Amino acid sequence: MTQPFTVSLVSWHDGEPLLKAIRTAVFIKEQGVPEDMEWDEHDATCRHALALSLNGDAIACGRMFSNGHIGRISVLSEWRGKMVGTAIMEAFLNYADAHDYPQVDVDAQVQAKPFYHRFDFVERGEVFMDAGIPHIKMLLKLK
Ligand SMILES: CC(C)(COP(=O)(O)OP(=O)(O)OC[C@H]1O[C@@H](n2cnc3c(N)ncnc32)[C@H](O)[C@@H]1OP(=O)(O)O)[C@@H](O)C(=O)NCCC(=O)NCCS
Repeated sequence: MTQPFTVSLVSWHDGEPLLKAIRTAVFIKEQGVPEDMEWDEHDATCRHALALSLNGDAIACGRMFSNGHIGRISVLSEWRGKMVGTAIMEAFLNYADAHDYPQVDVDAQVQAKPFYHRFDFVERGEVFMDAGIPHIKMLLKLK
């Protein structure tokens, strides 16, 4: 069956209101991340992935730095478990592959490690706290 959503890569300039709505719902409202920690200067230069439902609602997003660092992967709660997060990651991994990135990495929330294991990311280093949430760096070598 065709997936009931589309994923595209967008700039912050083009996607800002939709990207902000998703991250506000997931990180600020649901996970309690302080607003001043959620938004930073990197959004303007990152490549963003944005998933839209077939009727045009923004449902998931994420961002990737030019050095292959992936972050802010977020799917609205009602859309979880439908492979939207997977599609966001695949969009970034395809881009990274097409642009000869040697590796990508993510600062994964510890609770989400199994999600990243599915793409063969491996843990690096120790668990650390960010915005009050335990995280661990995970790495995926592409070459
Ligand atoms: C983590 C998140 C991005 C996953 O997105 P999703 O669209 O629900 O994931 P998918 O449907 O693509 O899941 C694919 C697989 O990963 C597993 N998975 C997804 N999220 C998981 C989690 N938090 N813990 C363990 N496994 C998870 C699913 O069970 C599924 O495996 P299965 O097919 O064997 O059942 C999403 O749950 C989310 O936005 N969570 C809140 C924000 C967050 O924690 N972001 C991660 C920051 S590092």
